[in-house]
Amino acid sequence: MSKIAVIGTGYVGLTTGACFAHIGHDVVCADVDADKIARLQRGEIPILEAGLDNLVREGLHDGRLTFVLGAENAVADCEFAYLCVPTPQGADGSADLSYIEDAARQIGPLLPSEAVVVNKSTVPVGSTRVVERALGRSDVAVVSNPEFLREGSAIHDFLHPDRIVIGAEDQSAAVKVQSLYLGITAPVIVTDPASAETIKYAANAFLATKISFINAVAAVCEAVGADIKDVALGMGYDTRIGHEFLKPGPGWGGSCFPKDTRAMVRIAEDAGYDFNLLKGVVNVNDEQLHRVAAKIVALAGGSVQGKRIGVWGLTFKARTDDMRESPSLAVIAHLVAQGAEVRAFDPSNPGPIEGIEVVDDPYAAVEGAEVLAVLTEWDEFRWLDVDKVADAMAAKNVVDARNLLDRAALTRRGFEYEGIGRK
Ligand SMILES: NC(=O)c1ccc[n+]([C@@H]2O[C@H](COP(=O)([O-])OP(=O)(O)OC[C@H]3O[C@@H](n4cnc5c(N)ncnc54)[C@H](O)[C@@H]3O)[C@@H](O)[C@H]2O)c1
Repeated sequence: MSKIAVIGTGYVGLTTGACFAHIGHDVVCADVDADKIARLQRGEIPILEAGLDNLVREGLHDGRLTFVLGAENAVADCEFAYLCVPTPQGADGSADLSYIEDAARQIGPLLPSEAVVVNKSTVPVGSTRVVERALGRSDVAVVSNPEFLREGSAIHDFLHPDRIVIGAEDQSAAVKVQSLYLGITAPVIVTDPASAETIKYAANAFLATKISFINAVAAVCEAVGADIKDVALGMGYDTRIGHEFLKPGPGWGGSCFPKDTRAMVRIAEDAGYDFNLLKGVVNVNDEQLHRVAAKIVALAGGSVQGKRIGVWGLTFKARTDDMRESPSLAVIAHLVAQGAEVRAFDPSNPGPIEGIEVVDDPYAAVEGAEVLAVLTEWDEFRWLDVDKVADAMAAKNVVDARNLLDRAALTRRGFEYEGIGRK
């Protein structure tokens, strides 16, 4: 079993650290956020992710998982240092590598000889070299090992991945990284760093393309009187297409797709290729946010000025508390800009959000509302009491941007129902 330092304890770093400890490694996780580290040392989990609390407590209890403040305090005797720090979108659309460089500079002088630095953050081609330069060490190999987990099922995805991708110039370093996953059954693709880095961006770009595609088909369905649910089902049974990511909605968001699609466009541009297809995918997504906001305005009678809109769902997807680049917030911003008073509920219990009122009860969110907008696909929304909702609202209008609710039950009770891509 190996000694692993994990730098950055966000959604990826904490999952990586907890899972590596779970399969038997000795893991030290570091972060710059003192409050986060103090909470983790007490076994408190700063994010909502199913099963993570148990794994962290198990690791703490067994002594295989520890948390320290500052990357420099994690690496003294590590064999592997995993970089799991943010790579946000820079001003020009490219990935901002400053967190990666800072982390590498911090640990560079302290790493034991022959340690392997593994980049799990999503980074553009060439970043392995950037990390090597920032480390300033010729005796330390740098390997790319991109992460494909989905928030909401991160633990499952880490322990049962579809594949493990390892990109390295140094084959012995690649084999060492592969050995960390002993016991995890998955195809392993060992390749060069540029290909590993491209696989991650291309995968995210393709998934975003599928969602934009089905949202565009949903718009066609509305225009021609077809039903997207049946259309997606009929498409998805084709094994070349598959059912995943063929669900229409308010558009894609989250901490990855928006920045990664734009970074991919930029990577291609810098390399002399105009990635028009992906630009179109991004444009369709922007349009979709407007289309959903327009549906809400239309059901409110053509204007939301001074009207209350009830919103269910703020996170970018269900079963996470992550609201980074949430389509829900983007739709809400369009409504607020047009004078709407938004009152929202989300099961992840977010704190206050500027410009809107956040309540802790779904029925309170629709009190006096002209329209209920369902913007995130939390399963519990399906089971709420439709009669109670009807009684609370000023008018019985629903925009179901996830096609989640029981349309028949709503229309039976006199609701105007507007989904996505449905007759
Ligand atoms: N969130 C996802 O679903 C997901 C999935 C796959 C890949 N990724 C990629 O993984 C990377 C991390 O994403 P995330 O969602 O975990 O980010 P995050 O913002 O949740 O976590 C990053 C953590 O790194 C810490 N940090 C920053 N600089 C540091 C330093 N020098 N030393 C120690 N800690 C430092 C931050 O305080 C933060 O806690 C990104 O490149 C992202 O694109 C994310």
